[in-house]
Amino acid sequence: MRRFLIDTDTASDDAVAVLMALRAPDVKVEAITVVAGNVPLDQAVQNALYTVELCGQHTPVYAGLEKPILHELITAREVHGQDGMGDIGLDLSGRQAASGHAVDVLIDTICGSPGEITLVTLGPLTNVAVALLREPKLAEAVKQCVVMGGAYVLPGNITPLAEFNFYADPEAVQIVFESGMPLLLVGWEESMSAGFVDPDDSAKLLAIGTKYSEFTINIQGGVAAYLEEMVGMQGFDLPDPLAMAVALEPSIAEIVKRRVDVVVGDGIARGQTIVDTWGVTGQPANVEIAQNIPRSEFLRVLSQLLR
Ligand code: RIB
Ligand code: CA
Repeated sequence: MRRFLIDTDTASDDAVAVLMALRAPDVKVEAITVVAGNVPLDQAVQNALYTVELCGQHTPVYAGLEKPILHELITAREVHGQDGMGDIGLDLSGRQAASGHAVDVLIDTICGSPGEITLVTLGPLTNVAVALLREPKLAEAVKQCVVMGGAYVLPGNITPLAEFNFYADPEAVQIVFESGMPLLLVGWEESMSAGFVDPDDSAKLLAIGTKYSEFTINIQGGVAAYLEEMVGMQGFDLPDPLAMAVALEPSIAEIVKRRVDVVVGDGIARGQTIVDTWGVTGQPANVEIAQNIPRSEFLRVLSQLLR
């Protein structure tokens, strides 16, 4: 069994990514750590607990940081809905998180099994950055960290230059980028190509006819409405499920090593990821980037896990 730990700001795409890992036959999800992002922390915790229960699992869910390291919390409720799960009336309250702090769980789980845990991050990197500050050995203990974040081909989504997870807490990104942690990044550009689900794809996924496929489609209404209004697109993107598909089957992506830096602070370029494609900085590569993922491969991995 492969051992995963998922850090998430649980909203409509995160929940599908979590579901994919929970239903992958060769993966054990050791824990789910939650960070504020798409929705405030408490709601993200409840959304994660709901998803675990939907999958009939008992994976522990731990609350983490309720705001970025330096910046005020910004949410994406205008995209994912007030509850983060499409506002379709799901019962998203009253479930109990495990006791303990997400930062401690990240450290204890990963450092307790050096080289064995794949960390998949689906939200702002606040929890991971604080864990690295508390225990720098985390960087060498993790097997790999697959990150949904960044925009390596512009535009971004939250600004023309930046993707939401990295914009939300760019200082956390810098801490993670400088930690030496083995990072495989899945950017926003891939989400809008390989990770885009059009109405035909939705119909095929719904035709799978399970509660998992219905859940996957039914909670995406907010994202679909947002994309229709903003860019006139029909359908929705699934950035976190795409990152999870890469974590589950890295061979679906071309993977390149790059030097990437992030813009911190609060200026117009906040959260921008700057890729040294030609190596002109002379700086060593610090990340891997997944690119050119075939949409058919993403849909294959996703569909298999919804049956
Ligand atoms: O920019 C997309 C990312 O921001 C996804 O992880 C989505 O869930 C939001 O957190
Ligand atoms: Ca997310």
